Amino acid sequence: MSPTQPQCAIVTGGASGIGRCLVTELVRLDFRVVVGDLNEAAGTELVAALNASVSDSPSSSSSSTPRAVFVHTDVTQPTAFATLFQAGTDHFGAVHILVNNAGIAQADPFWATEQWRSMVDVNLTATMAGTSAAIHYFTTVAPTLPATQAAGYNTNKVVINMASMSGLVPFPGDPIYAATKAAVVNFTRSLPDFTPLFGGVRFNCLCPAFVDTPMIDRLRAQSPLHEATLGRVAKVTAEEVVQGVLRCITERELNGAALVIACQREPQELKTDPVLVELLKDSLPVIDA
Ligand SMILES: NC(=O)c1ccc[n+]([C@@H]2O[C@H](COP(=O)([O-])OP(=O)(O)OC[C@H]3O[C@@H](n4cnc5c(N)ncnc54)[C@H](O)[C@@H]3O)[C@@H](O)[C@H]2O)c1
Repeated sequence: MSPTQPQCAIVTGGASGIGRCLVTELVRLDFRVVVGDLNEAAGTELVAALNASVSDSPSSSSSSTPRAVFVHTDVTQPTAFATLFQAGTDHFGAVHILVNNAGIAQADPFWATEQWRSMVDVNLTATMAGTSAAIHYFTTVAPTLPATQAAGYNTNKVVINMASMSGLVPFPGDPIYAATKAAVVNFTRSLPDFTPLFGGVRFNCLCPAFVDTPMIDRLRAQSPLHEATLGRVAKVTAEEVVQGVLRCITERELNGAALVIACQREPQELKTDPVLVELLKDSLPVIDA
């Protein structure tokens, strides 16, 4: 898949794990990418390597133009997303895609420390802040950009939030992590009615099973319980999660979707339990946007 005109994606948490794999694949597919991450060393190293690989490529037509830029970002800071959207506009003309991927997990039990508050800030509050910033950008900023600069923004705008299978089923290993991811799922699934109001932007999320990334390595190293459980469960690959992200970008019928990425299965869209649908059928409000 390669769009006819390069589209620009912001990927938070793009310096490591799933985000890093996504950034690499997007650049390979000729997207322009803004990598926003706390980890400056890993982020700058990644974009330098990707830009060098593109300029080394014999098929490269514009060797001096970067394909990816790094912006040192803490997604919990109030101006983080405005800065990322500005960087995408300055470097690549306009932003079309936001992937709220930055996330953290912790090994300590939530009742033992106050650290869980950062998990809510990064996994949930920043996802909501990023989504709000994207809506503001797509409805207020992008329409004012010159047509040549904002080419393509009219046709495909999407926000993709990284949830987890832990947001769909109870996860005793980390109830706060599970709560943040469940909130991301229902937040995202509650948004598509507003798409016409927000200039056509779509909203999807991913619910991957466990993936071997530095996040999982840290949990296993810090806690014997996590080592015992995470060591033996089946994992999906970061590449499989990335394929799910690409479906959320390219498949225009996906809006309000939660794609479940499970081991050795095709990604499947979460459906509301028919028992719940029947039980609540007279009670569910319908929003006229
Ligand atoms: N690894 C898994 O098993 C798994 C499964 C399902 C969902 N997820 C989710 O996928 C996403 C990526 O996870 P990963 O496993 O690749 O983790 P990772 O730790 O390898 O990468 C996360 C990245 O986010 C960055 N980050 C953390 N806090 C940040 C902040 N405040 N501002 C900006 N950047 C910040 C980190 O520096 C890091 O580069 C997370 O949202 C995670 O919850 C992971």
